[in-house]
Amino acid sequence: MEIKQGIRRNFARRAASYDRHAGTQRLMAQRLMALTEDFVPRVARILEIGCGTGCLTWQLRQANTAAQVVALDLDVALVAAARRRLGPDSGVAWLVADGETWARGCFDLIMANAVFQWLTRPAATLAVYFKSLAPGGVLAFSTLGPQTFKELGASLRQAANGLNFKVIPEIPAQGFLDKQSWAGLLSQAGFHKTRLTQELITVTFPTVRDFLKSLQATGATNPQPRAFAPRLFKALMAAYESGFGYNGFIPVTYEIICAIARK
Ligand SMILES: C[S@@+](CC[C@H](N)C(=O)[O-])C[C@H]1O[C@@H](n2cnc3c(N)ncnc32)[C@H](O)[C@@H]1O
Repeated sequence: MEIKQGIRRNFARRAASYDRHAGTQRLMAQRLMALTEDFVPRVARILEIGCGTGCLTWQLRQANTAAQVVALDLDVALVAAARRRLGPDSGVAWLVADGETWARGCFDLIMANAVFQWLTRPAATLAVYFKSLAPGGVLAFSTLGPQTFKELGASLRQAANGLNFKVIPEIPAQGFLDKQSWAGLLSQAGFHKTRLTQELITVTFPTVRDFLKSLQATGATNPQPRAFAPRLFKALMAAYESGFGYNGFIPVTYEIICAIARK
């Protein structure tokens, strides 16, 4: 529960700055919409998990104005932001709820953009979604894989080793599930005709500090933050810039995984 509260608090605090810094999440939403373009316009009941400020909700509405949509998020500030983005729309029911356990109604499509990397019980949650889908219904999501922020993880390890730290800290992204694991979990939950894609993209920032600030502005930071010793932080930035910097920029890898699966 503590992790879930941390996730909620991180994103809620950044509801106002999220959209300005969420370029990768927008790209993920585009990929997800492209993957489901044959299906989205034809469905009548859609459940969106983790709507955040409404980036995907808005695109869903553009693609299908007739469907009844339930859009939920953990936090009220995010749901309010999404609601403002879409404006009055009697076809969308907004909810503040934990998408891992909320299982009411029957849907033709369950969708989530850039959310499932934060699931705390993915196997049980996929089983809940399987039950909530009508026969032939579709689950489609984008998520981030464990290669996300690999430069940050490697620089942190190098910095901690260089300072002879006994415990080498990990970043949350190292624990994200990979494509194979998602394929296994989907099949275990009963889904078939599963299609998964994986893509590595690189985004650049002028400095490591700019990258960390931008990450913080999206709320996608450690739900259980630990205070970093200032010397570790300094060594991390030096390791990142000397190990990966080129032409005055530092690269940041995102591993984007998209999945579409049928009941
Ligand atoms: C990276 S944001 C993505 C927001 C939005 N889907 C988008 O495309 O911009 C992740 C969102 O998932 C929400 N979230 C994370 N875990 C959740 C859960 N268990 N139930 C509902 N929402 C959740 C967070 O509150 C946050 O708004």
